[in-house]
Amino acid sequence: MPELRVGVIGTGMMGCEHLRNLMGISDASITAISDPHAEQQGWARHTLGSQASMVAEFTDHRDLLNSGLVDAVLVATPNFTHKALLDDIFETDLHVLVEKPMCTTVEDCLSIVRAQSKRTALTWVGLEYRYMAPIAGLLNELRSGIVGNLKMMSIREHRFPFLVKVDNWNRFSQNTGGTLVEKCCHFFDLMNLAVRSRPVRVFASGSQDLNHLDEIYDGRPSDILDNAFVIVDYANGVRTMLDLSMFAEGGLHEQEITVVGDLGKLEAFIPGNGKIFIGDRMSRSVREVAVPVDPDISHLGFHLGASFIECKHFVDAVLNDKQPEVTVLDGLWSVVVGAAAHKSIDEQRPVFISEYGI
Ligand SMILES: NC(=O)c1ccc[n+]([C@@H]2O[C@H](COP(=O)([O-])OP(=O)(O)OC[C@H]3O[C@@H](n4cnc5c(N)ncnc54)[C@H](O)[C@@H]3O)[C@@H](O)[C@H]2O)c1
Repeated sequence: MPELRVGVIGTGMMGCEHLRNLMGISDASITAISDPHAEQQGWARHTLGSQASMVAEFTDHRDLLNSGLVDAVLVATPNFTHKALLDDIFETDLHVLVEKPMCTTVEDCLSIVRAQSKRTALTWVGLEYRYMAPIAGLLNELRSGIVGNLKMMSIREHRFPFLVKVDNWNRFSQNTGGTLVEKCCHFFDLMNLAVRSRPVRVFASGSQDLNHLDEIYDGRPSDILDNAFVIVDYANGVRTMLDLSMFAEGGLHEQEITVVGDLGKLEAFIPGNGKIFIGDRMSRSVREVAVPVDPDISHLGFHLGASFIECKHFVDAVLNDKQPEVTVLDGLWSVVVGAAAHKSIDEQRPVFISEYGI
């Protein structure tokens, strides 16, 4: 089987995780990287180790795209750059895996969905939480019907504050799309995936209460929301809720995911200990089920090996002419819920998704 030649655009924290992922995938070879910052170019070289001398380095992504050295690219640049980068990539026939969020606004996501419908090369969005073993296990059990018809889903993320990023781009909502787009598109994607229906109404409350309050950049204070509750109603009657706190370093689990059907309840915890919990209403009992972990995972990275699985499936899809598992529509709908939640907070009212004209 021919190897897929991959270029990585943006070699900060996530780009380097993807370099490590690709180094563990035998069907892929890293042929080029691009980053305008010398320090992050150094991170890439360090990550690539002895392979670095065989990888072309660019400071401008357009030179990488036109180099003839790549069949596919992986985009791991700041959120606010994704739209322009995708526009440039869509001028080529290169396949692309773009990190989440696909874009920072609903309007830009819609533009990408329209553009993708006119191209044949594959576009995959980096919403990899669905591949984390406990979450994949929970979704499998839900699909099996073991808890009956899904009625409610809740996701609690209680974690540490946002890390420092290159040029502190993640301190401003304009750059990220806002916390509920930037971070929580992962959770809205899981909700959309589990519920299998379209969100119709979003009601949220949230604010920036503790984090980054004393951080000022070029005279501008950071404006990143650090806690929220978000309620989402779906067209099929299912309701979901997100409980986000980014000043909860002391918790047992970073994420807790619960789905409740008319027959029972499923619970998964991240990082968890390789198990999920299945509750049965009739017998009022709960049992533990071990969830399988992909034995191919070469390194866990910051996401329990989920971004490795994502890269492996992306490479397989390109080489074997398969459809993407995470599409631009998934990218769009995960951003729609986050954007509507921010609008709900800003305007202190429930927001109907129909307001976006979709
Ligand atoms: N899927 C996940 O779980 C996950 C986790 C973390 C970050 N991310 C996403 O990955 C992306 C990168 O985040 P990060 O944490 O690595 O940020 P980072 O700041 O560590 O790295 C971003 C890098 O992109 C580079 N860059 C900026 N513009 C560029 C351009 N035009 N061409 C090439 N490089 C460019 C910067 O110099 C920097 O090195 C973001 O979209 C973020 O939301 C996803």
